[in-house]
Amino acid sequence: MTTENSPQPVRTDGKVRVAIVFGGRSSEHAVSCATAAGVMRAIDRDKYDVIPIGISRDGHWVLTDGDPSRLELTSGHTPEVGADSGAGVVVPMATTERTLTTLSPGSVPDVIGEVDVVFPLLHGPFGEDGTIQGMLELADIRYVGSGVFASAAGMDKHYMKVLFAGAGLPVGPYAVITDREWQRDPAAAMEAVGALKYPVFVKPARAGSSMGITKVETPGGLEAAIEFARQHDRKVIVEQGIAGREIECAVLQGRGVDGPRVSHVGEIAVQAGSGHEFYDFEAKYLDDGAVLSCPAEVPPAVSAEVQRLAGAAFESLGCEGLARVDCFYTDTGDVIINEINTMPGFTPRSMYSMMWEATGLSYPDLIDELIQLALTRPVGLR
Ligand SMILES: Nc1ncnc2c1ncn2[C@@H]1O[C@H](COP(=O)(O)OP(=O)(O)O)[C@@H](O)[C@H]1O
Ligand SMILES: [Mg+2]
Repeated sequence: MTTENSPQPVRTDGKVRVAIVFGGRSSEHAVSCATAAGVMRAIDRDKYDVIPIGISRDGHWVLTDGDPSRLELTSGHTPEVGADSGAGVVVPMATTERTLTTLSPGSVPDVIGEVDVVFPLLHGPFGEDGTIQGMLELADIRYVGSGVFASAAGMDKHYMKVLFAGAGLPVGPYAVITDREWQRDPAAAMEAVGALKYPVFVKPARAGSSMGITKVETPGGLEAAIEFARQHDRKVIVEQGIAGREIECAVLQGRGVDGPRVSHVGEIAVQAGSGHEFYDFEAKYLDDGAVLSCPAEVPPAVSAEVQRLAGAAFESLGCEGLARVDCFYTDTGDVIINEINTMPGFTPRSMYSMMWEATGLSYPDLIDELIQLALTRPVGLR
């Protein structure tokens, strides 16, 4: 069965109304704010009307003033959407209704207007994981990026690997520890990790921005690392450490019936002596511990292989819109996939944008392309 979708909206002033949604309930709240700042600075205001909607850490939707300078993430400033920093936003839950309203205590509901497309710039659970995508599907509102299933699969480092492996794509050795297994018998759960060679990386299965991740050198450090990861997600994945370089590729959905487009590949190099054991949160956002370069200096065959895997990974999950695929180019000369991010960090300085810039697509054009892809793609089964 297919669902009927409303035609692509056209407004009398010719502008498309884009709701930029950011913040959110995950531990990547501040990173999402930083991404929103970048997009709000660069989006073409002649073409798009922006409705800046923040989601507070406790899940309140508020209409913000959209001032990008308040949303930057620096070592001295962690941006945050306050639950009472604006009027509450109500999203319609009927397929015939596309009008957003605001509610403030003691006043009558105020109509903000119709929204044509939502740009969910949310990272992590309750945003990048299919939940907001499901909400928008129910409301029949178009949105940028992957749908429910691909978002959910891309958020879960366990099922992501299951799907990649099922599509014949190379992933590293790993073990999963569910909450039930951990509660029942931690010793037995840790035994499952015994088949992996150390060092291992212990991660929350559904998080991002390196939050909750520990590199563990010996079995003695395993339990504490699992408990730490469990503070972010009670499902934990333990991966064998891969010795090699981190090579990434940006993917954009093709136009029409075309397959995905891939960028030049880039490299993340964590600086020796920077104090970072791997590409951790601080190296990602707060200091100069990592160097991003594009195109990466790797043999052409390696770059081609990363691009092939990136496109195949995008397809294997049924992704839409955008994704960044992160690979390891191992010391033994192989390329394996580390992960896919269906809503990668997306400021002008982020790896995703940089890789497109190096490939000839500027940041403002990239934003435009993503919104146009979303406008031409109906919601519902497709
Ligand atoms: N199996 C692994 N082997 C080597 N390094 C790893 C491995 N897994 C993660 N890392 C390091 O940790 C970083 C964050 O891990 P990643 O799985 O990408 O989590 P996130 O979703 O938080 O970005 C990687 O960029 C890499 O530097
Ligand atoms: Mg990563």
